[in-house]
Amino acid sequence: MGQSIKGKIAYITGASSGIGKATAIELAKQGVNIGLLARSEQKLKDVSERIQNLGVSSQYQVVDISDETQVDNAITQLEGLLGKADILINNAGISTYGNVDEVTSAEWKQIFHVNVFGTYHVTRRVLPHMKEKNQGDIIMISSSNGLKGTAGSTAYSGSKFAIQGMAEALMQEVRPNNIRVFTMNPSLVATELVFGNDLSEKNEDKFMQPEDLAEYIVSQLKLHPRIFIKQSLQWATNPF
Ligand SMILES: NC(=O)c1ccc[n+]([C@@H]2O[C@H](COP(=O)([O-])OP(=O)(O)OC[C@H]3O[C@@H](n4cnc5c(N)ncnc54)[C@H](OP(=O)(O)O)[C@@H]3O)[C@@H](O)[C@H]2O)c1
Repeated sequence: MGQSIKGKIAYITGASSGIGKATAIELAKQGVNIGLLARSEQKLKDVSERIQNLGVSSQYQVVDISDETQVDNAITQLEGLLGKADILINNAGISTYGNVDEVTSAEWKQIFHVNVFGTYHVTRRVLPHMKEKNQGDIIMISSSNGLKGTAGSTAYSGSKFAIQGMAEALMQEVRPNNIRVFTMNPSLVATELVFGNDLSEKNEDKFMQPEDLAEYIVSQLKLHPRIFIKQSLQWATNPF
């Protein structure tokens, strides 16, 4: 039952830290070759070297996914250096906190530029190849905030609700092409997005860790190609 993912090629956005980095490492342990995308070159280089030491191929591209031209160029480069993607993990995202009249208009819009338009830019560039070969896997990282808004998160929740709608519609569009679209909605995960640079705050007994999400991503991808998990929610068991 299920399938091996060894030898496949995965592109991961936001692979320089947190969930994206942990997923890159976990997939590499399964023999998946990895294309890493994010803005921080040194971090990408470090992750890429770590992955190569696990015996798979890895390439990275420095890219701001909110810029469509940069995305087109980065994916073209990855396709040449590594091969075209069998798996796309739409993980890159940013957050801000503050009531609607406190967050600046520029900050508010930037959340949508990265989380919504960035996800669109990468997906539209990678999809034609998946359609051509009539197979592929796309994982969308939305959030518990993409299902339930909370005070102080109009931009973040709005963007994650938008990803929810995009993912649902995309899933319906590409099912006939045997492309599986999985949408994940984690609650709090101990990453820089939540704790900034001070990850000493992350309490491994209480909070979900990026490695937990990575394990779940791998297990979804290993499902038999005839089945996928349309939507899932990841909760910490006892964060109180
Ligand atoms: N942590 C949580 O509690 C939680 C809960 C639910 C959902 N999520 C979602 O999980 C995803 C990953 O977040 P994380 O928690 O792992 O946080 P993280 O450690 O801050 O990772 C975010 C990643 O996105 C990249 N990124 C940000 N802006 C980008 C841009 N313009 N272009 C390209 N890459 C960009 C960052 O890399 P660079 O800075 O190098 O570009 C980084 O690799 C996000 O979509 C987040 O909304 C997180």
